Amino acid sequence: MISFNKSFLTGKEAHYIYQAVYSGKLSGNGVYTKKCQKFFEEHYGFKKALMTTSCTDALEMAAILCDIKPGDEVIAPSYTFVSTVLAFVRQGAKIVFCDSCKYNPNIDADKIEALITDKTKVIVPVHYAGVACDMDKIMEIAHRYNLIVVEDAAQAIDSYYKGRPLGSIGHIGCFSFHETKNIISGEGGLLTINDERFIRRSEIIWEKGTNRSEFFRGEVNKYGWVDTGSSFLPSELISAFLWAQIENMDVIQLRRKEIWEQYYQGLKPFADKGFLQLPNIPEYATNNAHMFYIVCRSLEERSALIKYLKENGILSVFHYLSLHKSGFYTHHPECRPLNCQEIRNVGDEEQVIGLDLPNCDHFADCLVRLPMFFELSNEDAIRIVSEIGAFYKS
Ligand SMILES: Cc1ncc(COP(=O)(O)O)c(C=O)c1O
Repeated sequence: MISFNKSFLTGKEAHYIYQAVYSGKLSGNGVYTKKCQKFFEEHYGFKKALMTTSCTDALEMAAILCDIKPGDEVIAPSYTFVSTVLAFVRQGAKIVFCDSCKYNPNIDADKIEALITDKTKVIVPVHYAGVACDMDKIMEIAHRYNLIVVEDAAQAIDSYYKGRPLGSIGHIGCFSFHETKNIISGEGGLLTINDERFIRRSEIIWEKGTNRSEFFRGEVNKYGWVDTGSSFLPSELISAFLWAQIENMDVIQLRRKEIWEQYYQGLKPFADKGFLQLPNIPEYATNNAHMFYIVCRSLEERSALIKYLKENGILSVFHYLSLHKSGFYTHHPECRPLNCQEIRNVGDEEQVIGLDLPNCDHFADCLVRLPMFFELSNEDAIRIVSEIGAFYKS
């Protein structure tokens, strides 16, 4: 069976963890945490980088930094992972869902402005599959309405928009190093701050609401409780693992891009015949080969393809379900804006009235992800392409 994902180990992870263990400093903010943060700041130009235990944690920090108060509205795509919006809901926000683009699961920047009210505080673009959202349009709207932009760059490490690293364009960025991502630490994440006004508070929130970071730098002679926060910083073991991956990032990215290109070229004839849709990379975006997906013509066809591939020893998987149709959103009116309060029965399910996000629903029904990992061989990629071909010929 060709698995969907396989974690790639560079060979140095255990060595660096061993060093961290015997350095005597196991908790957070030690040598490896600082090395990783310095790398991200210098390589991608983030004003501040803070390691976290997950992207979910980074998003929760972002929601605190945005000073979300009950009733504030946050605009986000519905085609995304739960954490994108849950972090804001925990602070009392109402989520205003925006549709995806027609040819790309990213938020449709042209549909954002119509959703803005006097309660809107934040826009959260998600760079799906590591492919950039239209950030110029989003930042222009944000500046005009004085909104904060939090980039959910969970899948977008080492990817660019018009030459600018993702996670460095919005006021705040959030990355994931979960084992399914390009570079990994099991669980793990990163918060990036690009707006000076959030830097001091981000360190305090990171360190359980204390000014301990300032104390360690010798800027104050004692530290104490100064704000809200949590234990968002990871132990040194996580950062030691990640350091081994960072050192090999160029090699990892190169191989992933080769596999991606092999899929793309192999499947192009089927896309040209109209059987399926290939990923669309706008000219302003790069491809970090986080994921390879195809879009089928219907839910039934996608289910049949996944079944066919499984019967032939290949694991492929669908992705997000529309969040605007989720049980949580439907049954928690407090996280919906005032014009989306009524629900109706659709079949045996209840749904919120007035939320029509057809592109999001299309990707929820029809998108399927193919195996994508560093050690996937060329032979396996060829076999996957040929099985997909056999499915469409049959
Ligand atoms: C778009 C998006 N945001 C947030 C997350 C959460 O990341 P983590 O598992 O590191 O908390 C994910 C997870 O895959 C994701 O895909």
